[in-house]
This record gives sequence, C-alpha cells and structure tokens, in this order.
Amino acid sequence: MKRILVWDFPTRIFHWTLAASFALAWLTSESDVWLSHHVFFGYLMLGLLVFRMVWGFAGGTYARFKSFSFTPRAGLEYLREVFAARAARHIGHNPAGAQAIYLLLLLVLIVGVTGIFILGGEEQHGLAAGWIGISAGRFFKKIHEASATFMLLVVAAHVAGVLLESLLHKENLARSMLTGFKLATSQSVASKPYRVVAAGMLVAMLGFGVWWFSYDLHVPPIKGPAVPFIGPKLAQNAQWSEECGSCHLSFHPSLLPGRSWQRLLAQQGQHFGADLGLDGATTVALLAYANDNAAEKHATEAALKIDRSIPSNDVPTSITQTPYWVRKHHEVTAADWALPWIKSKANCEACHQDAQAGTFEDAAMQIPHSAPVAR
Ligand code: HEC
Ligand code: HEC
Repeated sequence: MKRILVWDFPTRIFHWTLAASFALAWLTSESDVWLSHHVFFGYLMLGLLVFRMVWGFAGGTYARFKSFSFTPRAGLEYLREVFAARAARHIGHNPAGAQAIYLLLLLVLIVGVTGIFILGGEEQHGLAAGWIGISAGRFFKKIHEASATFMLLVVAAHVAGVLLESLLHKENLARSMLTGFKLATSQSVASKPYRVVAAGMLVAMLGFGVWWFSYDLHVPPIKGPAVPFIGPKLAQNAQWSEECGSCHLSFHPSLLPGRSWQRLLAQQGQHFGADLGLDGATTVALLAYANDNAAEKHATEAALKIDRSIPSNDVPTSITQTPYWVRKHHEVTAADWALPWIKSKANCEACHQDAQAGTFEDAAMQIPHSAPVAR
C-alpha cells in the first residue's frame, strides 16, 4: 500500500467551498436584510457547478465523471452491500456516493436557476429582471424552497454515507477530502489534472469576486456587497413631493391602492389632525398621479404584496395598518420604534434609505441603532 493523491487541490477547494456556500446561503435566507449575501452564495454555487462540469473532464482521474459513472441501480446495490458490511472499498467515489453527487449537482442547478427567476420576478433584480412578472416570482419560490430542502436532505444522506463508509473501511474519508491523500495498492495510479484549465477558472472566479465587491453601488448611501442591487426606477411627481412632503415623507403612491388615495384626498380636511387645504385643481392632479402609480399597478414587490394583503372591501388610509406592512414589521421591537430618531412608524426613511424613491429595496434597509449623521 502507498499514499496516493486522490482528490486534487481544485476538487477539494470545490468541495469545501460548495459546502460552505450552501450553509451560508441557508443561513442568509432567514431575513431579506441579507438577501444580497444570499444571492452572492447562490451565484457562487452556480459558478462552482460550472467548474465541476469542466473538472469532470479535465480533472485528475478520480475527479472525472468517467471514474464514477455508476447507474442508480449500482448505487442501490452498493447500499445493500454497505448494510451487509461487505461493500468493497473504492478509492474514488463509490456507486452510492456517485448518485448523491449527481443529485447535488442537479439540485444546485435547479435551486440556482429558480433563485435567479425569483430575484428577477419578486425583486426585479439580476439576470432575469424585466422578463419575469412579480407574481411569477412567487411560483419559482415554491420550487426554490422545496428543492433547497431536498438538497439539505441529500447533504445529510451524503454525510451519513461518509460516516458509515469511514467506519466500515476504518479510514477517515472527511480527512482525505482535506489532505487529498488515501492509501491505495501499489498498482493504482492517478493521472494529473489539466493545470491550465484550473488556473483559467481560478482567474475567472477571482474576476467575478472583484467585480462583485467593487461595482459602484446602486443608491448612493447604501453599503454592502457591490452588485447593482436595484430594480427599475419608479415615477416621481414634483407636485406630490411638494404638497405631501412637508410634514412627513411623501409616501410613494405604490404603497396604497387607488381607492385609499381617493379617500385620503376626499378627507383632506381632517388629515390625521391637519387640514391640507388643497384646492380643487391640485387635488385632481395629485389624484391622477396617485391612481396612475397606485399599489394595484404592482410596480414593486411591496406594491403587489400590500395590494394583495388588503381585503377588497377595505379602504385603509394608513400604510402602516395594511396587513403586509404589519407582517413585515412585527419583528421590530418596541424599543426600536421608541428610538428618538425613529419615533413614528410612518418615519419610513429612518430605516429605508430608498423610501423617497418608493423602491424599498432589501439592501437599503437597516434599523439605525445610533443617531443619524446630519446630512
Ligand atoms: C400638514 C401636515 C401634513 C401634510 C401636508 C400631509 N400630511 Fe399626511 N400625515 C400627517 C400626519 C401628522 C400624519 C400622521 C403621521 C404619523 O402617524 O406619524 C400623516 C399620515 C399620513 C399617512 C399615513 C401614514 C401611515 O401611518 O401609514 C398617509 C398615507 C399620508 N399622510 C398621506 C399624505 C398625502 C398623500 C399627502 C399629500 C396630499 C399628505 N399626507 C400631506 C400630516 C400631513
Ligand atoms: C424601525 C425601522 C423601520 C421603519 C420606521 C419602517 N420599516 Fe419597513 N422594514 C424594516 C425592517 C427591519 C424590514 C425587514 C423585515 C424583514 O426582515 O424582512 C422592513 C421591511 C419592509 C418592507 C418589505 C421589503 C421587502 O422587500 O421585503 C417594506 C415594503 C417596508 N418595510 C415598507 C415600509 C414603509 C412604507 C414604512 C413607512 C410607512 C416603513 N417600512 C417603516 C424597518 C422599518
């Protein structure tokens, strides 16, 4: 027996980067605030998939698909042998492990592509922005979540298999994926990978990283991973900004349905304790702009979801009382609402840097825990 290099360096980097990106993508899926990071790990996984497809032909012997082209039937047969504790030891992937790998690669593709579709639909960002409707995004979300959950199960099965194999053949398989080496009979040889291909792809990956983190950001005050994380611009209206922006933020019309704006303007004499004193012509002009850009036009994810959350017989005059708004903010603590630089729920721009634009991008929100710097 001698030690031979089974898992070449690029294969090992691929393996552990994929494992880490999957874990981090999972963790950052918890809140929209981390969406840009979540998306980064998604793109990274797709990049890794591309790498693995190429490496399946250009890598060393055991990285090549040819060395583990087992059928699902062979995989099942192998599992049966494992449970009977008489499975043969494989230097490279065994027939059952090979099935897990094929499945994981397929799932990376499904999860990644549906992720791009959700991003393009719900957020109007990224590669699919503009050609997928906001509501179609929700359909892809179901597939995305189901296949990600399935992927977690396959990962669990893969880890269980590695443990079982390690016990059965008394060798630490996880460590050999770190060092690359395994003990093999003296006849076993592993061919060398094509280093040029590996180097080329490494350069491509680094280029992607530099682009991602250095792209000059979207809305100027927002800091974060540098991707053009912004959807289309919404219509603005100078008269609306002037008449509605003196006491509070001039809320974008996409935040309430047309019937709500109609009611607000009809009741402008008793507007939350104030009299807006608008003349007839101004009211007509404001209403026309509000109607043209109201929530039911579904220009943003927020518009669609606010609109869908309001019962059709209800005409709310507060954005902050719409069911969607309430749901999205129920995790904000009473202590945060009471911060002197927040005070009112209607003070959207305290936490949403793009509130004026009306876009309410995920990358632009954060609860400020210290007083804002004077602008
Ligand atoms: C004279 C001051 C004043 C002007 C001008 C004004 N508002 Fe208001 N508005 C208020 C006050 C006060 C509140 C209550 C704010 C709060 O709850 O913190 C309010 C609340 C609102 C809300 C509900 C916010 C929520 O809690 O969801 C909407 C919507 C709104 N205003 C729309 C408008 C529109 C549209 C215009 C222009 C046509 C306008 N406002 C002009 C004083 C004003
Ligand atoms: C105290 C800070 C704070 C204030 C004030 C605030 N928000 Fe938010 N908002 C948040 C946070 C935090 C989230 C993210 C919740 C989550 O984890 O999904 C959020 C989420 C949202 C979302 C969902 C965005 C998305 O794509 O998921 C919308 C839309 C939104 N807010 C609109 C508003 C509007 C309109 C106002 C003003 C009427 C407002 N918010 C006031 C903190 C705030």
